[in-house]
Amino acid sequence: MGDDRYVRTPIVIANWKLNKTVGEAIKFASALRDAVSDVGSVEIAVAPAFTALSSVSSALGESIVHLAAQDVFWEDDGAFTGEISPAMLKDVGCEYVIIGHSERRQFFGETNESANRKVKAVLSNDLKPILCVGENLEDREADRAESVIENHVRTGLAGIPSEMLPSTVIAYEPVWAIGTGVTATPDQAQLAHQFIRSLLSEMYSVELAAGVRIQYGGSVKPDNISELITQPDVDGALVGGASLEVETFAQIAISANKQ
Ligand code: PGA
Repeated sequence: MGDDRYVRTPIVIANWKLNKTVGEAIKFASALRDAVSDVGSVEIAVAPAFTALSSVSSALGESIVHLAAQDVFWEDDGAFTGEISPAMLKDVGCEYVIIGHSERRQFFGETNESANRKVKAVLSNDLKPILCVGENLEDREADRAESVIENHVRTGLAGIPSEMLPSTVIAYEPVWAIGTGVTATPDQAQLAHQFIRSLLSEMYSVELAAGVRIQYGGSVKPDNISELITQPDVDGALVGGASLEVETFAQIAISANKQ
């Protein structure tokens, strides 16, 4: 699966979660532009809160840094107080949308089914979903990590046609590693990523699965990115805590270059 014929550009995303005012976000975006201007073969995106998307989009301008949203609703418009549509995200310059993050699942009732509706809505609006999957500690200890991941992947991607798979990114985020300082070992990450890629091969084809980027997320830091990214099926990182400081995040993005 780490076949050299399939060159997957690593993708590193800053998931700021509920952090940064508009002013702080603009300052970060401008500094990041300069810090990663010659990063080479790594795709970089930042995911600010909804309130900062538009300003960060302007601050990034023509830079190589892309814009991502942290969530979305699946309807285009209508009486859905508090929600944001895929078209609205596109309108402010978003290219990626994080979907089904474990914090959305834990605190806001996100399910595999709602994540699936969002993935479909995002793809049909020419945006790229980052579908988050991953087991919690209880699942891992009860030896059911793979069945949980399988359910997340199969249900999250249900009904997504082959031609849309290349625009889809999967983020493997073991819940026990998120914000805990405990990172999956490179071997644990590789096994899970390989498992996800084999599932995609079954659901689609070996060829298509080989082109899908699978990011790792969960306590990624400058000092562990190198050993994670050298795993053949690890194609980048979704970074929370360590994405809040420009220098730290830029260091992670630069170290994610596989070449
Ligand atoms: P963390 O968060 O890097 O702080 O563990 C990752 C995430 O939740 O995407």
